[in-house]
Amino acid sequence: MAICELCLVQEKQPTQPGTDPGASSGAAPFREVTWESPSNIALVKYWGKHGLQLPRNPSLSLTLDQSRTRTTVRWRKGTGRMLDFKAGGEASADFAARVGNYLGKMQQELPLLADLDLAVETSNTFPHSSGIASSASGMSALALCLCSIAASAGELPEDGPLFRSKAGRVARLGSGSACRSLCGPWMTWGQTEAFDDSTDDYAIFVEDVAPEFQTLRDAILIVDASRKSISSTVGHAMMMDNPFAPARYENARRRMLEMAATLRNGDTALLVEIAEAEAMELHALMMTSVPSFILLKPATLSLIERVRGFRNRTSIPVCFTLDAGPNLHLLYPESAEEKVRALIADELQPFCAEGRVIYDQAGEGPTRIA
Ligand code: PMV
Repeated sequence: MAICELCLVQEKQPTQPGTDPGASSGAAPFREVTWESPSNIALVKYWGKHGLQLPRNPSLSLTLDQSRTRTTVRWRKGTGRMLDFKAGGEASADFAARVGNYLGKMQQELPLLADLDLAVETSNTFPHSSGIASSASGMSALALCLCSIAASAGELPEDGPLFRSKAGRVARLGSGSACRSLCGPWMTWGQTEAFDDSTDDYAIFVEDVAPEFQTLRDAILIVDASRKSISSTVGHAMMMDNPFAPARYENARRRMLEMAATLRNGDTALLVEIAEAEAMELHALMMTSVPSFILLKPATLSLIERVRGFRNRTSIPVCFTLDAGPNLHLLYPESAEEKVRALIADELQPFCAEGRVIYDQAGEGPTRIA
């Protein structure tokens, strides 16, 4: 199995000391673990699943650097309850229910959880509903915390291939794309001939990547920061009856082979072509599902036109991709930073909600906070 050497446990000091939810009750003291994990953006998209969150096609993504979730889990001997949950410093009933349900299911994966009480605290470095996939960063950070708890009880090694593959599986069961956040800058998930050792169970690190793709930039142009009108769970389910699904899965499998060669050779033109074809196909699938969803906004299309116009005029290999929402991820090489920033300021920012742009770039994966 390919394992990313770069992100094998780096430790940082915490910025804030933790509190002990059980301190005043006389109960056993809590122990705690904290991980910070990034989001990722897929260039070959995962859209359609089966069984236990298994992908219908392989996918490939760029791990982000700045857009991260920091999660602390406190635990003590107990009866498998979640005693407390906070997101961004606040209680959130919806989110707590989702996490509680997930933790219940994870008792099968990590049996020691049935004998622990947990308190979870999580916060993002990026604004909620900014079009950045918080489920990928959130679920990967939580999965890493749970696996570190298992490791502290001697049920897993502290790190290394076994820890990583288990964390990948536990993350995947929370949110499919989350398993691609466990390393970087490039990850692939799902069985494909393009990468040895690839599996549907968890994502693996892409080893052979040309230097220009290891520092790729991603400027996220926020067209609409409101909640997206379709959850990915509903979107994946709608692929079951989509008449274009077989062609879609075939395209994704072919593009994985092309992307493996592209990343290796530094073939920018092909990366541009595949990234945009995948973004368009994802949204075409949503439009042709029943019921049909149009998540693109007029401003998204205006941005796409301008990005393509700029590329045709300058031959600078800037391209876009999209998640299941209207916000554009602008991908470009580090060498084009200055010119693309000027393009954003002059032509693109006026189409963004309150002019919002989040500048991110290829990252190396999660960090354990000491
Ligand atoms: O991981 P999920 O279930 O939120 O699905 C992610 C789906 C897309 O973001 C649209 C594509 C992808 O591969 O990340």
